[in-house]
Amino acid sequence: MKLAVIGCGYVGLVSGSCLAEAGHEVIATDNDASKIATLQAGKIPIYEPSLDKVLETVVREGRLRFTANGGEAVRESDVVFICVGTPPTDTGDADLSAIDSVARMIARESRTPKLVIEKSTVPAQTGDQLKRALQVYATNAGAKFRVASNPEFLREGTAVEDFFHPDRIVVGVEDKESEQELREIYAPILQGRFRCPVHLPNCPPAPTPDFVVTTIASAELIKHASNSFLGLKISYANVLADLCEHLGGNVEEVTRAVGLDPRIGGQFLKAGLGFGGFCLPKDIQAFISLAERAGIDFGLLKEAERVNRQRVDLLLDKVKKALWVMKGKQIGVLGIAFKPNTDDIRLAPAIEVIRRLLAEGAVVRATDPEAMERARGVFPDLAYSADPYEVARGADALLVLTEWEQFRRLDWKRVRSEMARPLVVDGRNMLRPAEMKALGFEYMSFGRPEKAVATPAS
Ligand code: UDX
Repeated sequence: MKLAVIGCGYVGLVSGSCLAEAGHEVIATDNDASKIATLQAGKIPIYEPSLDKVLETVVREGRLRFTANGGEAVRESDVVFICVGTPPTDTGDADLSAIDSVARMIARESRTPKLVIEKSTVPAQTGDQLKRALQVYATNAGAKFRVASNPEFLREGTAVEDFFHPDRIVVGVEDKESEQELREIYAPILQGRFRCPVHLPNCPPAPTPDFVVTTIASAELIKHASNSFLGLKISYANVLADLCEHLGGNVEEVTRAVGLDPRIGGQFLKAGLGFGGFCLPKDIQAFISLAERAGIDFGLLKEAERVNRQRVDLLLDKVKKALWVMKGKQIGVLGIAFKPNTDDIRLAPAIEVIRRLLAEGAVVRATDPEAMERARGVFPDLAYSADPYEVARGADALLVLTEWEQFRRLDWKRVRSEMARPLVVDGRNMLRPAEMKALGFEYMSFGRPEKAVATPAS
C-alpha cells in the first residue's frame, strides 16, 4: 500500500520505517525542512536501537523516502498517518495546533479518497474534529475522507521491537472499509510473517497480537488510559517504597510478590526516582484535563502525578541529609536520559535533579552513554565526561539517575577509590545494597532500608 507519514519525530520515524520494512511504500514528510535534509543525507536525528538498520535497508531498497513537500506525500498516497507532536499547553491540555494545520494541508492537497489515521496521542473526540476539518477545508471534489485512530504503544529504547511484536494493535474506525485497510497494513505483523526481521537477529517468536477494533473515541481513550495506568502503577510502587523505608520492609520483595498475582502483574512496579519522558507525564496531564472538561475529577491521577513530582524532593532530601551543606560539594551524576537506551531527556527526572543541585551551589559533573549531547542544550556549562570513573573522581556523592546497564557493570571498587567520600544515592534501585555496603560505600536507595533483609541473590 502507498502510505504517507506526516511528522518525522519519534513516532513518525519509527512507524514509517517499520511500515516500509513490513512491505509498504512509504513517503514521509515533516514541516522542518532541515530535519528532512538530515534524513535524506542518511542521518537519524534520534537515538533508537535498531532504527538505523531498518531505515538504511528500506531507504536503500526504495521503500521509504523523505520529502519536505507535504502536498506531494499526501497526493501520492492512499493512506495518511498523522504523527505530529501534541505537546502540553500551560493548562496541561494537548496542543492540537499541529494536527489542525496538517488536517488543512491534507484537505487542500488531496485529489482522491484517503484514509486519514491519527497516530499521534490525542484526546478523545479529536477524530470528530479532524473529520470536520478535513471536510470543511477540502478544495477538490475527488477528495473524500475516512478517519481512523491507531494509537501507538511504542516504548523508547525498544520501539522497533515493539512495532513488530506488539501486544495489541488498536484501531478505532467508523466503517468496515477502514478496518479492512488497517488489517491489510498490519497483515505481515498479524500473520506472524514478520516475526524475526533481519535486523533483529535471534529475536524470540512473538505471540500473534490482538487486533482490537473499536470506535474512534474508544481508541483515543485506550491510549491515554494505558499510559495513565502505567503512571499509577509506578506511583503506587513508589508510595510502597516510602512505606517500606518507615516500616522496615523491602519494596523489591513486596512488589515482586504483589506482581506475581496475574491480576496485578509484575511490570511497572519498580520504585525509585519516578517516571519521566514525553509520554507518561504529558498523557496523564492531558487525561486529567480532558476529564475535567467532561466534569469528572480524576483525583486518582492527580495523586499519581503528585507522588511522582515528590520523588525528586525525596532523592535530594537523602543527598542533603548525608552531605549537610550542598554549596561547593562535588556531585557526580550517572545518567541523564529519562530511562536507559534512549537519548531522550524530555521531562527526565535527572534534569530536575541537576537543576536543583546547581541552584544549591553544588558542583556537578555528569555522564550518560547517549544523552550528553542533548543535555548540553539544557546545561551548556555543566561539566560532562564520557568516563564514569572521571565523574566519580573527587566526588562527595555519586547519584544514579538512569539505570544504564553500563553503570551496573562498573568496577565499583574502582569507583569507590576515585571518590572523595564513598556516598552513592541510587535513584533507580539499580545496585545491591549488601554488595555496596561490603565494598565500603554509604549507600542509599528507595524503599530498601538497611534493616530490611536484602533478597538473597538467586
Ligand atoms: C511509554 C509507554 O510505555 C508506551 O507504551 C507509550 O507508547 C509511550 O509511553 P516510554 O515513554 O518510552 O513509553 O517509557 P516507559 O518505558 O513507559 O517508561 C516511562 C518512565 O517510567 C521512565 O522514566 C521509567 O524510568 C519509569 N519507570 C518505568 C519507573 O519508574 N518504574 C517502572 O517500573 C517502569
